[in-house]
Amino acid sequence: MVSKTLLFFTFVNFVFYSYGERSNKFFRNDYNYIEAFQSFYKLHPIPQNWTDAKRVCALEGATLWHPENDNEANELIASWQKANPNIEWIFVGLSDLLVEGVFETVSGKPTSQVYSKWDPSQPDNYRGIQDCVRLKNIGVLDDVECHHKYPFTCKKTLSSLEWNYQCKIPNLDYVYNKLNNNC
Ligand SMILES: *[C@@H]1O[C@H](CO)[C@@H](O)[C@H](O)[C@H]1NC(C)=O
Repeated sequence: MVSKTLLFFTFVNFVFYSYGERSNKFFRNDYNYIEAFQSFYKLHPIPQNWTDAKRVCALEGATLWHPENDNEANELIASWQKANPNIEWIFVGLSDLLVEGVFETVSGKPTSQVYSKWDPSQPDNYRGIQDCVRLKNIGVLDDVECHHKYPFTCKKTLSSLEWNYQCKIPNLDYVYNKLNNNC
């Protein structure tokens, strides 16, 4: 009887504890959560070329950010301007590397489905070699050469977060090792 009760409470505890972890909305210490967009963000102020920016985000388990809509663009620009007022442009996760003239997001969505407020004279594919997209602090997009270097932002959506219950971290790459009680 005692052990059954104990088991039951252990189970209840586990459920609540697990739920608590999930509702903590934690991804990584270096990312900020914005409730309105149910996502975590990190500005990388050190300029990188576009492919490296994309790679850095992927290594952190996130993706190279591009604005989904006006609200997200405004909010993120405001927070980047507050933290780094001298940053005028950042790279965003849009390019026409696959098909010239067809800009898409890093996850393959056409730009018509996301924020696509181009500078009035852009994209112009100047000299035929501008395949990557930068965002200005006034909210307009412009195509530039991918080897140029700009700061950038990485994004992780809450819905893509996979909670590792055994290790109590949001990363499924780690496995719990019973022998040394480590992940
Ligand atoms: C970006 O920089 C890396 C070195 O960090 C280089 O290997 C790569 O070719 C560059 N990519 C572009 C598009 O310039």
